[in-house]
Parts: sequence; C-alpha cells; structure tokens
Amino acid sequence: MKVAVLGYGTVGLGVYEMLKTAKGLEPGPVLVRPGKDDAPFKVTSIEAIVNDPEVGAAAEVMGGVEPAFSYAAAVLSAGKHLVTSNKALVAARGIELAEIAREHGAAFLFSAACGGGVPFLHHLSLARESDEILSLGGILNGTTNYMLDAIQRLGLEYEQALKDAQRLGYAEADPTADVSGLDALRKIMLACAVAWGRLPREGLLNEGIASVTAADAAHFMARGYTCRLMARGGKTGDGIYAYVEPVLLREGAAECSVLENYNMARYEGACAGPIILMGQGAGRWPTASAVLRDLGCILLGHREMLPACCAEVPADNGGVSHLYYVRLPAHRAAALPCESAESAGGVARLVTKPMSVAAMHAFAAKIRAEGGEIFFAALEQ
Ligand SMILES: NC(=O)c1ccc[n+]([C@@H]2O[C@H](COP(=O)([O-])OP(=O)(O)OC[C@H]3O[C@@H](n4cnc5c(N)ncnc54)[C@H](OP(=O)(O)O)[C@@H]3O)[C@@H](O)[C@H]2O)c1
Repeated sequence: MKVAVLGYGTVGLGVYEMLKTAKGLEPGPVLVRPGKDDAPFKVTSIEAIVNDPEVGAAAEVMGGVEPAFSYAAAVLSAGKHLVTSNKALVAARGIELAEIAREHGAAFLFSAACGGGVPFLHHLSLARESDEILSLGGILNGTTNYMLDAIQRLGLEYEQALKDAQRLGYAEADPTADVSGLDALRKIMLACAVAWGRLPREGLLNEGIASVTAADAAHFMARGYTCRLMARGGKTGDGIYAYVEPVLLREGAAECSVLENYNMARYEGACAGPIILMGQGAGRWPTASAVLRDLGCILLGHREMLPACCAEVPADNGGVSHLYYVRLPAHRAAALPCESAESAGGVARLVTKPMSVAAMHAFAAKIRAEGGEIFFAALEQ
C-alpha cells in the first residue's frame, strides 16, 4: 500500500523513512508547504494526494486542527485510509472523521496521538471487545515527567528543569500545553473515547505542574512521596470522569520508576485486572513507529479505533475523591477540611480529608483568583 505523508517535520520525516523498509507499505507523495517542494516526492496541494489513484492511505502528521481536518476529511472521502498522530485534531473532530471513514469504507486509526510509541489506544481498542474496562490513565506527558524527575532527583527549580527540557528537545518553545496538563488531558479524552465510546468534553479539569517548587519536592520527598503528573479516566454510573493533576505516590508504586521523559499508561479490565504499558511517549522514531503500527493494522483489516456509537458527554468529576496535599497561604488553610497541617512564614502545608476532584480544582482556582499561590497533589492511597 502506497502511503502519502501530510507534513514533513519531526514525525513526518520518521514516517517517510520507515515506510521505505516497512513490510507491505511504500512511501508515496509528501505534502509540504508551497516553496518547500525541493524534491520530486514532495507536493504542495492535497488534491495531488487525494486524486492519486496509487495512494491507498495517508499519514497526517502536520499538527493543529485546520487545515488538518479538511485534508483528513478529503482523504477519507476519497475512500483512502487515514492514520494520524495529531491529538488536537482527534480530540476536536475525531468523531466526525470516524463517521466520514465509516461512510466511505476507509480506516481511521490514531494510536500515535496518545502515548507516542506506547500502544495504549491500540490495546484499549482490542481490550474493549472482550473485557469491560473499568478505569484508565497514567503518565501521558513526557515533558512534565522529565521536569518533575529533574526537580525531585536533581533538586532543580522549575525554571531550570524547563530550560533543560527545552534544550534536550523534550519541551517546545511554548510549553504551555505540556505544563498546564492540557496535552495529557487531550490524551485521556481520546483514551476514554476508545475505551467507552464516550468522548468527555465539558467539565474536564487539568492542573499542571507550573506551581511546584523545589521546596515542595523536598517536603513531600522527606515524607516518602514522589510526584507524577497523572491523567485519569473512569466510569461513574452513567458518566465519565476525566482529569489531570499532580499525584503523590508512595515509594514502590510503579509510576515512581518512570524516569526522565518516559510514559506509563495503565488500564484495569474487569477480567484482565491491571495492565501497565511503559515506553517512550514522544520523539521521532517512537511516534513514527506507532504510525507504522497503525498502517500495519490496516493491512491486517483493522478499520476503526472509535466505536461506532461514540458520542460527546460532559465529564463528571464531582464523584471522585482523594486526600490532597496542599501548600497555600496560611490564612486560607481553615477553608479546607484538614487531616493534618503545619505552617511557617505565612505558608501552610496540609493534608485534606477526602475531597472531590471538582471541589479541589475549584478551590485552587479561587485562591489564584484572590492572587494567592497554591500547589496541590492527590495523595495515592
Ligand atoms: N514530536 C513528537 O514527539 C510527537 C509525539 C506524538 C505526537 N505528535 C504529534 O504529531 C504531529 C506532528 O508533530 P511534529 O513534532 O512532527 O511537528 P513538527 O516538527 O512541527 O512538524 C509538522 C510539519 O508539518 C508541516 N505543516 C504544518 N502545516 C502544514 C500545512 N498546512 N501544509 C503542509 N505542511 C504543513 C510543518 O511545516 P512548517 O515547519 O513549515 O510549519 C512541519 O514540517 C502533531 O500533531 C504532534 O502533536 C508529535
């Protein structure tokens, strides 16, 4: 099968190179911007790909929602298969693309969009057919894992950890989506949609790592905890919870062994029990390998990752509770249901009684609106 590549950046170049030696696949035209078509295999219009009868599939690795959506829709409408690594596109318009694919008998797979080389969505799409998936989540952002690891193991301040992550190519020049938890949130949205056919949209909550300090790390590490940014999704009666927040884990938890920019995804099947997948969540070759895996699955007859009934639902984060470790201005500590607390120099550090995820995130937003500084992390029991 000849595969066109839309976008020739970090992932696109990797996909193109891997296609040269992949079994049953060969590289087709590569879409680049006008003026960048400096080789015969490069084209500058999507029509050149859509109208090429030899092209059987396209890999969209450009990023962004538009024009990626229009190009993906054109490819699928022509009856050609589409794979993508673009989480922003699938989170925003994936349900529409899946419908267009079904209508035209084409495949639409996107396992590279969540977990890079880690075959998380691939496993979920297979597991849901034979088992009930009870919950899912994990460390789904390599940039923030690298930074948290550097803050905790090397004692770096947040700014230095971010600079190092950028120097090593783990963080983009604008790291907002990573450090705010938005990138991990988009990935957990996709995982929920694949596992349960429900794409949570309104009411999603993401707390990132931008407020963690080396002093916080020293404080919770002295008490035997390691911090990781975790995404979690699960079922609550008829609803779905989906959120991202820092979590403090006891020594010995599997997530504590995830160092540098690695990812660890997990899900729990009613029969299978807990399943853990660990690997490189980003980078040219791991991500390109996931794109190629999807293309290989298409050759084996795999057609869809989103179940046919997939629909958007509001997220319900009011029914999940944790104890929380919180650092906040001392004069606001009494506003929280407190298990234990200490305070010095106008700053309180406390552990709350069980609080809903929705209540904790709302409280933090209120403190910030008042101009106060707050860091919080769920305590893993
Ligand atoms: N990098 C990773 O490790 C990784 C991991 C998992 C998922 N992803 C996802 O994979 C996608 C690609 O990421 P990347 O890191 O490869 O990004 P990248 O290095 O910025 O590459 C994107 C390429 O697409 C090109 N492009 C953008 N819009 C275009 C258009 N309208 N027409 C033609 N070409 C266009 C860009 O050209 P210009 O340079 O001219 O703008 C660039 O060459 C994103 O959705 C990202 O979230 C990346």
